[in-house]
Amino acid sequence: MKILFVVWELDPFFKLGGLGDVARSLPGALKILGEDIRTITPYYKAVKMGRNKKTLIGKLSFEYGGRKQRIEVWKTNQPYTKVPAYFLKNKKYLDKATPTDTWGFFNKAVVEVIKNNILNWQPEIIHINDRHGGLIPLLIKIEKLPIKTILTIHNLAFQGQAKMKILKDMGIDPELCKITKWEIKSRQVNFLMEAIIHSDTITTVSPTYAKEILTEEYGQGLNDLLKQMSGKIFGILNGIDIDWRYTTHGTAVRYPYNSSEKKTDGKIEYYHWLDGKKHNKLFLQKKLGLKVGENIPLICFIGRLDPKQKGLDILHTLLRRNADKPNFQFVLLGDGDKNWEERYKWLSTFYPKSFSCNFRFDETLAHQLYAGSDFIVIPSLYEPCGLIQMIAMLFGTIPIAHKTGGLKDSIKDNYNGFLFPDYNSISLEKSVTKAIDVWRNDRFEFEKIVEHALKTDFSWTKSAKEYKVLYEKLLSNS
Ligand code: GLC
Repeated sequence: MKILFVVWELDPFFKLGGLGDVARSLPGALKILGEDIRTITPYYKAVKMGRNKKTLIGKLSFEYGGRKQRIEVWKTNQPYTKVPAYFLKNKKYLDKATPTDTWGFFNKAVVEVIKNNILNWQPEIIHINDRHGGLIPLLIKIEKLPIKTILTIHNLAFQGQAKMKILKDMGIDPELCKITKWEIKSRQVNFLMEAIIHSDTITTVSPTYAKEILTEEYGQGLNDLLKQMSGKIFGILNGIDIDWRYTTHGTAVRYPYNSSEKKTDGKIEYYHWLDGKKHNKLFLQKKLGLKVGENIPLICFIGRLDPKQKGLDILHTLLRRNADKPNFQFVLLGDGDKNWEERYKWLSTFYPKSFSCNFRFDETLAHQLYAGSDFIVIPSLYEPCGLIQMIAMLFGTIPIAHKTGGLKDSIKDNYNGFLFPDYNSISLEKSVTKAIDVWRNDRFEFEKIVEHALKTDFSWTKSAKEYKVLYEKLLSNS
């Protein structure tokens, strides 16, 4: 099957978060299953091509915003998987990843590229991701192209509202868009909503999230619409790359370790996980200025500081409650909301031997944290999938997470992690206390949990097959 995977960020060229990882690894897994899948993204100024060879394969002009606009189409291959990656270049609209004209222009450009056969290759399926490709399914219908569309929702909270003018710029008759009353009032078009209505199939990034988005609590105002569409919504859990060297990000991890035995692979000597984790923890404590000691449990948090999603409030309450006499250490890595940065900074300023807060995006430190921490805390209010719990488990680092979305689908309580049922600091604290208690007082049980985590299969193999089946179904319905 020929599939064009339309996405806004693509690791290793340009990445903001989990979506960029999925955009690299899912097409890679589908290629292994024999699919002819290719990605297409804007060619922002920030795109880093590195040593990848790129070729200009075509140029095109089309009307946008009442003027002729030119784009260039570049092609390269993914470094490991060799999945072809197309990039669209235009100075005015695609230099920076800023909404929303960029999306409108990008959506129009993708469809024009296909209409004019610039790729010299015609997709049978277009797979869009989140709001960024939201108007493509409608454009495909308007152009009457023989292509099926599939939308994957990675996060329903970000819907992409844009001024109505964008429809005019794209040459779309507003009558064709489902604009609800409140949106007419504010003169907005909702990119994600249009995608939900006009795509042939929808997936979410975990089975639980597929059910949650039908409820008022998680539906972000679109639950009624989604309920009407529930027949075409499927939940497929994301995977991760499980190649150890790739996941450890080159040389970031000081003391590489492997599941259960000490061994040598080429030039690298791997420790048993028990020794590896111990060395990495001591290294981390020194690096971050924490009290050094292998008998202090270390908990980390890695991620965007988004107060609406990531559970910053309940986590902060728990830390403050324990700040005077913590029986654990805590390291935060991530940036985002400035108010919350300030509040967390306060903790590390007053308790520098126990708390370390690092407000930045830093892949090296992230991998050192996966390797050196005993636990990773993921208190998200909602989590469509979440990849960090999977990466952490690959490192034998045990998640303590809210029982929601993909966290619920990938962690088994007391088996390979700890889940807390209610979104509040008491429920979280109970889980943290229990995890630390097992860590301190029942080493046999704790080591069993780590072994389970290390052995849990988070490779894409199973999920990529589910996507393949869905694609086949889509084409057989035509
Ligand atoms: C979004 C979601 C996250 C998911 C990722 C990749 O960032 O918030 O839960 O893992 O997309 O699908």
